[in-house]
Amino acid sequence: MSQPKNTATDQSKIMEKIVSLAKRKGFVYQSSEIYGGLNGCWDYGPLGVEMLNNLKRQWWKSMTYRENIEGIDASILMHPRVWEASGHVENFTDPMVDCKGCKSRYRLDVLFEDMSVKRKKEALREIEPGKFEGQIKDELVIEEFAKRVATDADAAKMVAVLSCPNCGNKGTFTEARKFNLMFKTFVGPVEDSSAVVFLRPETAQGIFVNFLNVQSAGRLKIPFGIAQIGKAFRNEINTKNFLFRTREFEQMEMQFFVKPGTDDEQFEYWRSERMKWFVGLGMKAEKLQWHQHPKDKLAHYAKDAYDIEYQFPFGWGEIEGVHNRTDFDLSRHEQYSGKSLKYFDEVTKEKFTPFVIETSAGASRSFMAFLVDAYSEEEAPSAEGVMETRVVLKLHPKLAPTKVAIFPLVNRDGMPEMATKIEADLRQHFRVFYDDSGAVGRRYRRQDEAGTPFCVTVDSQSLQDQTVTVRERDSMKQDRIAAAALRSYIAERLM
Ligand code: GAP
Repeated sequence: MSQPKNTATDQSKIMEKIVSLAKRKGFVYQSSEIYGGLNGCWDYGPLGVEMLNNLKRQWWKSMTYRENIEGIDASILMHPRVWEASGHVENFTDPMVDCKGCKSRYRLDVLFEDMSVKRKKEALREIEPGKFEGQIKDELVIEEFAKRVATDADAAKMVAVLSCPNCGNKGTFTEARKFNLMFKTFVGPVEDSSAVVFLRPETAQGIFVNFLNVQSAGRLKIPFGIAQIGKAFRNEINTKNFLFRTREFEQMEMQFFVKPGTDDEQFEYWRSERMKWFVGLGMKAEKLQWHQHPKDKLAHYAKDAYDIEYQFPFGWGEIEGVHNRTDFDLSRHEQYSGKSLKYFDEVTKEKFTPFVIETSAGASRSFMAFLVDAYSEEEAPSAEGVMETRVVLKLHPKLAPTKVAIFPLVNRDGMPEMATKIEADLRQHFRVFYDDSGAVGRRYRRQDEAGTPFCVTVDSQSLQDQTVTVRERDSMKQDRIAAAALRSYIAERLM
């Protein structure tokens, strides 16, 4: 058996290794790399797009293969009034500060978040001399700091004593300004204010404005849901951590419309469903946790909100939000459009505005979490029996971009002919990869790095008895099975 090799001290290097593996194997590339790249944008390569599609397919099935959830695909550009009604024009802002010395730009809350406890202590001591002298516990400092930066006035005092992380200059930050994160563009040839539209910053609004269309077309009865996967755009002030915070990304959102009064129970149900989904696709349960939004920090539309967080090498980060959005969105769209969005219950003859339980996952962020979770370095024996480091992506077979690799042991004696026949047969059902170059041990290692769960080798025995070996990626165990049984053997393991 191979031994896990990752240790805490490796953590800081792991992200670098994953980004480099992602590029080398064709999962993810920097956008427009040959021109120096475009910050906050990434391209998915051949293996990446396959894995991302597998991830989205799993989510789509888990949502829309139920009796009471339907899917839609709304347009990215929407009527500008949508974003007034949703509150995005007014509220979708981040506080931004610039360093007057080196011109670096920061999101104020992230600047605070990223500070070390030591620097937090120093800042507290400086803004309130006397109160924070001597030994103070780290947890207290963090709590106190969060309290201090929660109000605009205290945050301003704090900014005045901070040094810029880039140039080290102290007290050179501008006042915080509100920066709206929506990307603007124009419809038609005239670039004036009447032609302004936004690239959607979330997919949810396409669902709200279509609520009655979908309900009446499918004669759906409450409770029911509408699901959507699509691109969203946010002009983030600071992009960071690979795919974690980008300017263009994909969301997988589902809005579940419920009768007011049943919302708390539905909220708990969906929290449990969504956590199960990540764990069911192999994500390590101990790397997942819930974070409840404190009541005083809830978004303007929310009654309750929890995030599913994953423990990335750089710390815990949200991968999905589950929110009780009340009747805020439908009521606002009713108010702004002048069209009724009330639901009529045929049985009780009641008319009401449903509450919405939202599950909002980032496809791109989940993709990264699955990639990070799957990444493993192990000490394993090579074909010659020498211990070496094996890099393996232990992706759930349903997410793995390639399901089977096929190798002729050597390129002669009828082995390539038999292997290509097997390849042609399996290719009709699975994404396969044929590799006949280099020692078979090397070929295994290449597939381990790509996350391929099964490698099939045709050897001299295969020619005599029509059997092949199937090597399983994680255990490295080999089974010898009849070539004719390969398809069902693999299909069973992909269920
Ligand atoms: N409709 C609710 C909504 O959009 P959100 O918490 O702003 O809520 C939901 O976003 C999810 O979208 C997040 O949990 C995250 O996975 C993903 N997401 C948000 N901003 C992102 C960004 N800049 N880059 C990558 N993913 C992002």
